[in-house]
Amino acid sequence: MIALGADHGGFELKEAIKKHLDEKGVEYVDCGTYSAESIDYAPIAKATCEKVTSGECEKAILCCGTGIGISMAANKVKGIRAACCSDYFSAKLTRMHNDANALCMGGRVVGVGLALELVDVFLETEFEGGRHQRRIDQITEIENS
Ligand code: RB5
Repeated sequence: MIALGADHGGFELKEAIKKHLDEKGVEYVDCGTYSAESIDYAPIAKATCEKVTSGECEKAILCCGTGIGISMAANKVKGIRAACCSDYFSAKLTRMHNDANALCMGGRVVGVGLALELVDVFLETEFEGGRHQRRIDQITEIENS
């Protein structure tokens, strides 16, 4: 189960991602927003990420205008490692090396075609563990300090 969230700047991209996940048979929960009307991104980031930290969802996909604000808010939720990506290599490597559990994208930055490629590689790539686990543990230590 994937948690989806967006503000107005990422609303259209979220809708395109929903269609894509429907076609692939991937289940998701849509945490809003539900229209293109202006809305603040931080509460949506929190509600969406809490679906992950509660264990209801495996990963989150978040969209705002740039992907940046919503990723900043997401990274304040304990247990979330959110990566703002606009290229394929980063979306893949943030799974392999950072065990990212939230992908953030900008609806005003990436086209739908690229965004869907980023979604696919993010969802399909496994964490490599090993030396990278130590580094994740160090991030968690900072979070807990
Ligand atoms: C909203 O206009 C915009 O600021 C927001 O979607 C996002 O880009 C913030 O980082």
